[in-house]
Amino acid sequence: MVLIGAVDCGIIAQNVMLAAESLGLGGVYLGYIRNDINRTAEILKLPKYVVPMFGMALGHPAQDPMLRPRLPLEAMVSENHYQPIDSQVLADYRALTRAYYQERSKMDTDWAEQMTESLKGGIRPEILPFLHKQGFARK
Ligand SMILES: Cc1cc2nc3c(=O)[nH]c(=O)nc-3n(C[C@H](O)[C@H](O)[C@H](O)COP(=O)(O)O)c2cc1C
Repeated sequence: MVLIGAVDCGIIAQNVMLAAESLGLGGVYLGYIRNDINRTAEILKLPKYVVPMFGMALGHPAQDPMLRPRLPLEAMVSENHYQPIDSQVLADYRALTRAYYQERSKMDTDWAEQMTESLKGGIRPEILPFLHKQGFARK
């Protein structure tokens, strides 16, 4: 149920973002609100059975930043059965994102390095106890 709820929230989030952008607004998803999920729940006065999944800031964009190159469709879409990512497609995407990070932020990194870094170590270990406290994922 927690997974289903999270997926549903993601679907809602994307629709809200698309609707906002169609009206000329800009938005930023805020996963940050889960960094201290207990404090977020306290500030928002969340009762049992309510879990903050994401925040979203909407407004009139003050900037028009360059877009980060997206993974090409062939790296994400499989037809009929799972298809592993082609190593050349991945290498090309890494080169593309390295150039992007260099130009945008003067950072010497690429998509794969960013992913590896973000998956290192335990991320937000308090989330599971929080879910239990709110009455979820108990079985
Ligand atoms: C699921 C998700 C959570 C995010 N959480 C945050 C956040 O907490 N704070 C923030 O400044 N940006 C957050 N972002 C926004 C990204 O940092 C980035 O600005 C946004 O995805 C657009 O840039 P991109 O084209 O590089 O993806 C989040 C984006 C996603 C998709």
